[in-house]
Amino acid sequence: MAIQRITDTSTHSEDADEQVIEVTLRPKDFSEYVGQDRLKKNLKLAIDAAKKRNEPIDHILLYGPPGLGKTTMASVIATEMGTNIRITAGPAIERAGDLASILTNLNDGDILFIDEIHRLGHAVEEVLYSAMEDFKLDIMIGKGPAARSVRLDLPKFTVIGATTRTGALSAPLRDRFGLIHRLEFYTPDEITRIISRAARILDSQIDPGAAEMLSTRARLTPRIANRLLKRVRDYADVNGDGMIDEPTTRAALALLEIDELGLDPGDRNLIVSIIDNYGSHPVGLNTIAALTGDEATTIEDFYEPYLLQIGFIERTPRGRRVTPKGYAHVGKTIDDIGQTLI
Ligand SMILES: Nc1ncnc2c1ncn2[C@@H]1O[C@H](COP(=O)(O)OP(=O)(O)OP(=O)(O)O)[C@@H](O)[C@H]1O
Ligand SMILES: [Mg+2]
Repeated sequence: MAIQRITDTSTHSEDADEQVIEVTLRPKDFSEYVGQDRLKKNLKLAIDAAKKRNEPIDHILLYGPPGLGKTTMASVIATEMGTNIRITAGPAIERAGDLASILTNLNDGDILFIDEIHRLGHAVEEVLYSAMEDFKLDIMIGKGPAARSVRLDLPKFTVIGATTRTGALSAPLRDRFGLIHRLEFYTPDEITRIISRAARILDSQIDPGAAEMLSTRARLTPRIANRLLKRVRDYADVNGDGMIDEPTTRAALALLEIDELGLDPGDRNLIVSIIDNYGSHPVGLNTIAALTGDEATTIEDFYEPYLLQIGFIERTPRGRRVTPKGYAHVGKTIDDIGQTLI
């Protein structure tokens, strides 16, 4: 069984308990959804306008690193619009026929949420184009010489697509979205609010100092904040009276090997591997993947966004490079090796 990193922001969790917690903690409307103020402002406007015209809201594409609240936002939009949401994912729609049956079962105003939309197959994407643009579905009926194409009217629905990488989306598909928004990392203050809210819902006592400590170690990501809170809560229940204070939090995080900036052994290994092999020189994604034994996409989706955000690595045209800040964090200096390779 694969060991799951606590800072792994993927939802492929084997922990059923965790999924229940994610659902319990998921904000339901704008008032509960912390942060992402610019996005909320834009969406509110679009929602108010759509309601006023009595039309469905424009197709929306949400992108950004995992765990920042894309799926949550899709259901918040449905709540705010007062419509139904149907949830699916790119890899789940294998054939054009699968999409056709989803589309023909929608009602006027419904939202179709397509997670990992960059993973839709080409044939499926083609069907989605005219569905999104004209609310028409072109299908072939019959086989061989008797086959003919028919055009069906579809209900006026809204697609909300989510992806960790807009780069992986084809241009024609991207063009069909009226609103395209990037979700940003949260500020430590916002993460503190998310932690306090979660603690309240989970009926846990957490003191402000402990919430603040957690907020600096959650990689500015709500999913990780909630997950860390849960682990620290377990620790406090087992080793104390359930009260989450600073000493308890510090001890629980040490056990999880999460450092002051939220990096785990996997992150530190990535930085050290690059330095030991390439110094401060730029190195390609596939080379990094070979060094750490991870998939290149795992590095791109899970490790890299936060390391870029805090300035430990930077992207150059020739690859990723560890910065002096990254060096300092793992206790090395550029001269250690950086110079010797020039
Ligand atoms: N703005 C927010 N305020 C409070 N909690 C949030 C917020 N955004 C996300 N969360 C919490 O974080 C969890 C993860 O969010 P969500 O599943 O929406 O992330 P995601 O961006 O869809 O991730 P992925 O790319 O992996 O699908 C949610 O269950 C929710 O509890
Ligand atoms: Mg999601």
